[in-house]
Amino acid sequence: LWMIALYLTTKTKTPAYSHSNLYHYGTFPEGFHWGVSSSAYQVEGGWNADGKGPSVWDTFTQKPGNIPNNDNGDVACDSYNKIDADLYMLRALKVKTYRFSLSWSRIFPNGYKSSHNQKGVDYYDRLIDGLIANNIAPMVTLYHWDLPQALQDISGWDNLEMINIFNEYCDFCYATFGDRVKFWITFNEPQTIAWSGYGLGQIPPNVKQPRDAPYRVAHNLLKAHAQVYHTYDEKYRASQGGLVSISLNAEWAEPLDINVPREVVAADRALQFQLGWFAHPIFKNGDYPDAMKWQVGNKSELQGLPNSRLPSFTDEDKAFIQGTADVFCINTYTTKVVRHVTSRLNIESYETDQDVEKDNADGSENTAVNEQKAVAWGLRRLLNWLKEEYGDPEIYITENGVATGTAITVDDTDRIFFLKTYVDEALKAHNLDGVRVKGYIASSLMDSFEWLKGNTIGYGLHYVNFKLSSRPRTPKRSAHLYFDIMRNNGFPL
Ligand code: NOJ
Repeated sequence: LWMIALYLTTKTKTPAYSHSNLYHYGTFPEGFHWGVSSSAYQVEGGWNADGKGPSVWDTFTQKPGNIPNNDNGDVACDSYNKIDADLYMLRALKVKTYRFSLSWSRIFPNGYKSSHNQKGVDYYDRLIDGLIANNIAPMVTLYHWDLPQALQDISGWDNLEMINIFNEYCDFCYATFGDRVKFWITFNEPQTIAWSGYGLGQIPPNVKQPRDAPYRVAHNLLKAHAQVYHTYDEKYRASQGGLVSISLNAEWAEPLDINVPREVVAADRALQFQLGWFAHPIFKNGDYPDAMKWQVGNKSELQGLPNSRLPSFTDEDKAFIQGTADVFCINTYTTKVVRHVTSRLNIESYETDQDVEKDNADGSENTAVNEQKAVAWGLRRLLNWLKEEYGDPEIYITENGVATGTAITVDDTDRIFFLKTYVDEALKAHNLDGVRVKGYIASSLMDSFEWLKGNTIGYGLHYVNFKLSSRPRTPKRSAHLYFDIMRNNGFPL
């Protein structure tokens, strides 16, 4: 009898990934890092103020026809002139962390140290001092896509020289701000930079060469990341004691049919192409994931395919790249369903290298304006997968959020649902599955210039009226909810 009982208990045990109960109602431990995010080009404006040089995003958005309504970031939220208004929001929210990025061409207008612009440095000094005075920890992204135009003119990230030039810039930032900044993000979403910038050609520099350019560029980005990690390690860590990481974009990939092996393999491949591309070298062995080597790298040649375009790392490179992040940072927005579409033996289009057709995973009609679906259980699966795959790292969610249309001002029910369900799945991962989630940064502080969508949508917890030159900020209902979540460290019973 007891054996039958034992059998039944094991059989009926809730699987680790159960998502039958919508809310877990738990809390994170004291000291959890709650925050909100922004990035320089999206909020600052002042595109040529006080000696700032143009970035690739200035060039791109100022060309008519590239962005809906010809919106651009010339003024954006005018944060360059509104430090006090930004600090006011952050203080009112009582966030512990503010994640923002530095505009490289505000500090070094042409990208090189020799072009140093003190007024640009002063702006970040004022912002950082204001944060510290309010007990808000700055989390600083060194590169959030706005490359100085002058560096694009020498081929940008497709040029190996960029490693030294980026290192010179980061070294300067550590030396100048590192007494107060204890959390550095080297690159924001390198996969987006490589794939959307050099494969799909959608974002600057708009190169559409999916066959090999993204792989070449990613190779350089990884080396540049490793270089500036080592610079911190060697010159600043002992005296400044901060953390250095990289924000990798990752959406959980759910196989279309879990019972069909090739769909399961395709879903894994999708994760490897999006996240493993950068995470495998940095957090595992200094090298690309096998799934990529078979598809686009030297293992595809083993099959007699003249197909290899994934550059190889030398042993020295591998040793240099492996282990160059102190914690694991992800940006995540939705969940996708993955279906096997191309055969490795029959590649017709390089754009389908990644071998997946992406869909959103809630099975319903679109609700949000940008077709993003709020499928929070994917976050719990992703967090569990990270724990398994990368040896139980400490994890920070450095961006998570949802867009609403600009017609929605403060009554953002979609965002309230999104926040509640996503934070709750992060809580399940932490409290039920033992994933070491250390921080959650909501994207974003306020509606801002949303890249290819201009000002037609916004991710903000605050509404910004872009029609008024004073760019007034108003908390949305979600800001009030997030205030409560942070104050309670989650959802206490
Ligand atoms: C990720 C980017 O890092 C961020 O700048 C952007 O606002 C969001 N994606 C939403 O598109």
